[in-house]
Amino acid sequence: MKRAGLLFGLLAWTLWSRADDGRLLWLGGTAPDSPCRVKVRGIGPTAPHATETTVALAREALADGYRGSDVTLVLDTAARLGDGFRLQGPRPATVTASSAVGLLYGAYALLRRQNTQAETGPYDCMERPALALRMLDHWDNPDGSVERGYAGRSIWKWEQMTGGRMSDSLRARLCLYARANASVGINAVVLNNVNASPKMLSRTYLDKVQVVADLLRPYGIRVYLSVNFASPMALGDTRTADPQNARVRRWWQRKAAEIYALMPDFGGFLVKANSEGQPGPGDYHRTHAEGANMLADALAPYGGKVVWRSFVYGAGHRHEDRVKQAVSEFAGLDGLFRDNVMLQSKNGPLDFQPREPYAPIFDRMERTSQLAELQITQEYLGQSRHLVYLAPMWKEFFEQVKPSRLKGVAGVANVGDTANWCGHPFSQANWYAFGRLAWNPELSAEAIAEEWLRQTFHTADARFLAPVGMMMMTSREACVNYMMPLGLHHLFKFDHHYGPEPGGFKASYPREWCPVYYHRADSAGIGFDRTVATGSGATAQYREPYATQYERLETCPEQLLLWFHHVPWDYRMQSGNTLWQELCCKYRLGVSMVEVYRDFWRSSTRPYVDAERWQQVDGLLQVQLNDAREWRETCLDYFQTFSHQPIE
Ligand code: GCU
Repeated sequence: MKRAGLLFGLLAWTLWSRADDGRLLWLGGTAPDSPCRVKVRGIGPTAPHATETTVALAREALADGYRGSDVTLVLDTAARLGDGFRLQGPRPATVTASSAVGLLYGAYALLRRQNTQAETGPYDCMERPALALRMLDHWDNPDGSVERGYAGRSIWKWEQMTGGRMSDSLRARLCLYARANASVGINAVVLNNVNASPKMLSRTYLDKVQVVADLLRPYGIRVYLSVNFASPMALGDTRTADPQNARVRRWWQRKAAEIYALMPDFGGFLVKANSEGQPGPGDYHRTHAEGANMLADALAPYGGKVVWRSFVYGAGHRHEDRVKQAVSEFAGLDGLFRDNVMLQSKNGPLDFQPREPYAPIFDRMERTSQLAELQITQEYLGQSRHLVYLAPMWKEFFEQVKPSRLKGVAGVANVGDTANWCGHPFSQANWYAFGRLAWNPELSAEAIAEEWLRQTFHTADARFLAPVGMMMMTSREACVNYMMPLGLHHLFKFDHHYGPEPGGFKASYPREWCPVYYHRADSAGIGFDRTVATGSGATAQYREPYATQYERLETCPEQLLLWFHHVPWDYRMQSGNTLWQELCCKYRLGVSMVEVYRDFWRSSTRPYVDAERWQQVDGLLQVQLNDAREWRETCLDYFQTFSHQPIE
């Protein structure tokens, strides 16, 4: 009896937690009062199984969440819409697409329309994704840990995938994940960490990867793997990983054949090579192009891609300013990569700081396909404890690096096995915004924030949407202000990258990990001189007008001032303040902004948010405020030892 009770309790808990996982996503929705009928046209009895499965998902999504009118899904292969769709309505609503996945995207767009817009009469609109590759990069390890993951452990429960199957509860959770991705158009997923375990290419793991690929496929998502360049050697099959070695090349060819036999639509490999201790072609005096091309040749017969990262420092050009090293290593290789290689670079030249200038490598690789890598997980932006909405930062990047010059965009995922997926309830907005911007970089950060708020908190009340939207919109600037304003960067405590340690220095560490290397504060002033005239010359890597703009102190945007210049403490800023006064003002402003968020949340949002989430956000805003104060005090106290001026 006791056992039955326990079992029942367990079952109830499992069902509850599963339902809850879905409710805690933007597409949780509420059950419609009058479910709609969904008709499908254009799919004959001979349609491939894959098409049927994807269309069934579109149908199910609408049947679950659309109300008010019937919907017709029309598959019209002559419509030439690619992965896009056409929506017409309102009564009846019609979704037309030329591919099954287009219909799925269209179904989600219709739901989004219903849940975020007041109906204004007839509509007829068409959408196509601006970027072909819209990819999430998981930094998940085979042991279930997640590098820079702040939302629990990995969602891939490898230990629960055996014999080509996975448990039902895992399947349910991963379907929700896939649905969330498809709802914003994400079409590729790298399952594992760029610091890749060679184990991922063993047959044991490939069998598990196949199970995941089968699950994600109907949602239009292709699987990629991060690979360790030395895999053939690490797995004991060769004595070298030299890309010119015939045995090594054959090993990769056989591995590609094995993978594609399991997953005919496998996306390809993501590679971090000769960076932060990872092996690479440089170990054999070969170039990045030689390494990438060897893998590209192995994948080419199957249409696979190699995504090669440019995040390198401390290797071939180790004596240079870190932010220059990617261009120094890669510019000479432009045009030498195979057609199925894409170079993936972080948005800024350093490492996902709260604010960086764009990475000049995007200007320098005219004949190489490029992807931008953004970080959704907030490694340097308060992790899952600070409310920081990242879309404004990504829009800032897209102003200078035009999406039309990119083949795609990759986002380092912030998803884990915690019930609300991303840790901070508002961190989910970054996953959502990443997908929306990858689909359409023209969307405004405000509009995306509002969409997410409406769908997540199920309200259309402007008394909630407007101020909370404003809070999201200003939150990234607040973070810059309380952490490292005016172009300061990398003032983080060693390793965990959460709190401040501006005086951080360890002789045994590479200089690139030490905050003092970056701010260069002394009695004369503060900042990293990267000018051609007197500094590291990093400004010369930019295209005009940026090269000249950044080079000159008078024209350098103040928000990047200390990134490019070493500036005297009494330098006059546009506001009339001295640099020291301005620094004090910025830190104070950052803290005040968080104070306003916390007070507003506490006083005015309770009626709109369920108790559990409300409490969680309230508690986290207090943590953020305490942290912001710590940042201000630690940084100003430390810099004051150089400026010798009062903290105003
Ligand atoms: C950062 C991060 C590492 C990560 C690396 C990368 O340095 O802290 O954890 O491996 O970026 O992007 O490769």
